[in-house]
Amino acid sequence: MSRCMPLSKEIPPMKDLTSDNITENVKILNNQTSSPRVRYVFDRLVSHVHDFVRETCLSTEEWQAGIDFLTAAGQISNELRSEMTLLSDTLGVSLLVDAINHPRHGKATEGTVLGPFHTHDAPVAESGYVLHEDQEAAKLLVLCSVQDTSGEPVADVVCDVWEGDAYGFYDVQNPNRIRPDGRALLRTNKEGKFHFTAVVPVPYPIPMDGPVGKMLTLLKRHPNRPGHIHFMLRKAGYDNLITALYPRGDPYETSDPVFGVKESLVVDLGTVNDQISRAYNVPVGTKMLKYDFVLVPEQEARELRAKRAEEAVKNLDFDVDLMDGLPVLAVD
Ligand code: BEZ
Ligand code: FE
Repeated sequence: MSRCMPLSKEIPPMKDLTSDNITENVKILNNQTSSPRVRYVFDRLVSHVHDFVRETCLSTEEWQAGIDFLTAAGQISNELRSEMTLLSDTLGVSLLVDAINHPRHGKATEGTVLGPFHTHDAPVAESGYVLHEDQEAAKLLVLCSVQDTSGEPVADVVCDVWEGDAYGFYDVQNPNRIRPDGRALLRTNKEGKFHFTAVVPVPYPIPMDGPVGKMLTLLKRHPNRPGHIHFMLRKAGYDNLITALYPRGDPYETSDPVFGVKESLVVDLGTVNDQISRAYNVPVGTKMLKYDFVLVPEQEARELRAKRAEEAVKNLDFDVDLMDGLPVLAVD
């Protein structure tokens, strides 16, 4: 019995393929899929990858270097390290995907890259929690509120926060990690508020010991992320917000290797005075960060995404329909 799948009668004979006709022929084979979205994504992928090869006149050595690079990125990855995500981050793709899926809303807090250091084992904590065990580190009182786009406070938002230590290392980078450090799952109160004590964030280099490090070196790019604290805010009925806050004045604020900094996420730190010291039980003179997050209701976010998708396909030179808010090839 043959191990081969039966031939589809619709496939025209393909021989004598050249750099001029290979693209259309690959698409014909791919178009056997019954999913309009899969068909569209592969149609565009093949078009762009083939054009890239044609436009660069990619040499055989360069093509092999690309294959070796992707192979090495896969080989160095494990459940705590995703070199492919780092590649996406450093090529600006992660930021682009976030921007498309969470389009700008005038009043809402902007999102940014998740990064590779989020975990699912942060301790559930009360407001006032001290994120780090390090007693010596310079502390930062973080006072936050969460409201919706009409200015109403949002209670019961799960606020997942994480940051590196005073030396710029995340707990998962410590091979002897026994429990989470530098992370917590907090919740907004009835006034939509939560607070915690962090360490003053410092810049740190993204992992440079793998193929992405080699790529950055080749491109003469530095690996240093400006200091920041990560936030993931979730509540049913609202668009998930993955973002980070960056204290102003960091030397790497305008050249982040993963393109995560947005002006609206750059914050001026203040200093704890007498009154705040008594209210939050932290020493006078401690650095302080105040931020008001604004979440977008899910329905508003859906409408924004649909509008953005319409804009994105308006000027394409081929016909496209929208299906569930996403482009697909028009059926004629
Ligand atoms: C981070 O912020 O932790 C991060 C983000 C993207 C790549 C590497 C690190
Ligand atoms: Fe980070």
